[in-house]
Amino acid sequence: MGAVEVRDGFTALYGAEPEGVWSAPGRVNLIGEHTDYNDGFVMPFALPHTATAAVSRREDGVVRLHSADLDGGVVELRPDDLVPQADKEWTAYPAGVVWALREAGHPVTGADIHLSSTVPVGAGLSSSAAVEVVVALALNDLYELGLQRWQLARLCQRAENVYVGAPTGIMDQTASACCEDGHALFLDTRDLGQKQIPFDLAAEGMRLLVVDTRVKHAHNEGEYGKRRAGCEKGAALLGVDALRDIAYDDLDAALARLEDEEVRRLVRHVVTEDARVERVVALLESGDTRAIGPVLTAGHASLRDDFRISCPELDLVVDTALASGALGARMTGGGFGGSAIVLAEATDVDTITKAVEEAFAAASFTAPRVFEAVPSPGARRIS
Ligand code: GLA
Repeated sequence: MGAVEVRDGFTALYGAEPEGVWSAPGRVNLIGEHTDYNDGFVMPFALPHTATAAVSRREDGVVRLHSADLDGGVVELRPDDLVPQADKEWTAYPAGVVWALREAGHPVTGADIHLSSTVPVGAGLSSSAAVEVVVALALNDLYELGLQRWQLARLCQRAENVYVGAPTGIMDQTASACCEDGHALFLDTRDLGQKQIPFDLAAEGMRLLVVDTRVKHAHNEGEYGKRRAGCEKGAALLGVDALRDIAYDDLDAALARLEDEEVRRLVRHVVTEDARVERVVALLESGDTRAIGPVLTAGHASLRDDFRISCPELDLVVDTALASGALGARMTGGGFGGSAIVLAEATDVDTITKAVEEAFAAASFTAPRVFEAVPSPGARRIS
């Protein structure tokens, strides 16, 4: 649904024009997986798929929420009464943002919100971060809170961690809030230092495909939390604040000090993955774009074998794409389903897409959804 429909939907629903309309994108991560909660590096870019919100202020301590994408009616909440982890519905994401803003001392007295999103849900493309960020940006503008993008991302992460109760890192919210059109975002998740890296594959005759396996990843938050706890255990055993502090050159020595094989595998993934992000940045900056392919593929092997968060559908995408001429391929996002990315010559896209679709049919998997990902703008006010 576009901005005009969302604006009109608001007016029909609440009986007055909204004060404004905002959008915030989903993201795909090029490289740097499960590094963000280890203070490491990530490199996402924004998708053209967005959450759009029409919003007005209220001064009576009421928040009204409505989604154009779902059957339910308007949900009315009182910011004073919001309790972390009580709400198990979609409303927890926008309500969590209101909660986090108020917790941080910002005078948000209420709002009417009408939302619609084109970000596929459960595909590992940050549909929830898009909803959080669009609401945060709208309230920041309307209440003139003066918060910067990275601060909004931090508040949205807090909404997700504490209010929703999902122990995620900072990547998704920062990507949605801070990405720029035509660029991938090289983000240091320790201090949120950012560098926008030009990423125009079409100009070089390449494409990046997203293959949504249609395996919903949502039910594996327990596994995500276990990986996170294992990484924190590894950092504690090695005497560092976060695994980011283990230099790639010191990896073997660090692994030799760890007895637990499970922890060793997690540490190896995180340390090598941080090195892969830096390698991809260096290759892109030197104009050697095709050479990032094998680095992406190595990232997949590490997530599959060391971090152990792939699944048969994701492996099938990667193996089939590579066998059909892809330059590189990997799962992206939290894992256990969701999406894979495939870097390919433009001329190979049809062959690869057909091969993946046929492989899925032969394996009796649900047909995947394949689309081209183009680096798109981050969150913004539309009207
Ligand atoms: C999910 C989380 C992110 C990040 C990725 C894995 O998308 O929300 O914070 O940890 O998984 O890289």
